[in-house]
Amino acid sequence: MRSLLFVPADSARKLEKGLSSGADALIVDLEDSVALTSKAAARAAAAEFLAAAREGAQRPRLIVRVNGLTTGMIDTDLDAVMPAGPDAIMLPKTVGGTDISHLAAKIAVREAEYGLKDGSTAIIAIATENARGVFALGTLAGASHRLSGVAWGGEDLAADLGAESNHGADGFYTDPYRLARGLALLAAAAAEVDAIDSVYTDFRDLDGLASECRDARRDGFVAKMAIHPAQVPVINEAFTPSADAVAHAREIVEAFSANPSAGVVGIRGRMIDRPHLRQAERLLARAASLAAAAPQP
Ligand code: COA
Ligand code: MG
Repeated sequence: MRSLLFVPADSARKLEKGLSSGADALIVDLEDSVALTSKAAARAAAAEFLAAAREGAQRPRLIVRVNGLTTGMIDTDLDAVMPAGPDAIMLPKTVGGTDISHLAAKIAVREAEYGLKDGSTAIIAIATENARGVFALGTLAGASHRLSGVAWGGEDLAADLGAESNHGADGFYTDPYRLARGLALLAAAAAEVDAIDSVYTDFRDLDGLASECRDARRDGFVAKMAIHPAQVPVINEAFTPSADAVAHAREIVEAFSANPSAGVVGIRGRMIDRPHLRQAERLLARAASLAAAAPQP
């Protein structure tokens, strides 16, 4: 998964457009993009959409962002959407591993109730939306076998901190958000799940988006959330390993398999050792899984 497109569940038009956007996953949103007065209609629309969309041959992965654990709405959300068997539930405002175990238990009950395969529903955590969540990032690892991704977000965190803005005059995130981003990346690695970069809210600025994607990929993020269909191709391209990167990774793997007892080899004047081999193997695995998921001609 490279691109995850948010779609407000109460917009039939956007749900339909999302399906043809090329996004690897749709996040059908019941939380912040849906007004309180529209929650019930959004749940019904989400359930109907999921049931139809999951039958599609070349469909994106279907994720539902439910309302958080402290809202009093999450059980109603899950009751509405779980019968349609979403691929994953996204948990906003996650505060550490206990929240993940709590959600995992709720999901397990519904899987049993609705005849879904045990363990078939993954969990993606948005885990930096408040200060407590940031401090609890280290407890996500090992919380549940369902956890498949850790995403970070800077919008709700700014509200929690009482900040005027999360960006400085230079246009970049300020220190508290850089810290949250870095810790979320480490938490994803510690939990051995995908690190997912936050949304880029200026959806008309595709160059700025491309630049933020490059920074994210450089640092180890494998995917980014989107809020507008125009962002999807930019994200997909940025998070698809380039032909050059794949060729270089192959070269590294081949150099080590030709010299199985070597701890270090030289390739075109550069020292390549075991950590580089691990990076190369990861990149090739990612390229292979994207190729396997791509539509067949
Ligand atoms: N998913 C699917 N389709 C979308 C979309 C989305 N997230 N955002 C926009 N579109 C569609 C619009 O419906 C429009 O289609 P139409 O011309 O056939 O009606 C087309 O793409 C172009 O949209 P545009 O006019 O450029 O934007 P907008 O002003 O209609 O919408 C937003 C702007 C921000 C309101 C909209 O992109 C959106 O709702 N994004 C998701 C917000 C969200 O979920 N936030 C929560 C997570 S942070
Ligand atoms: Mg939010």
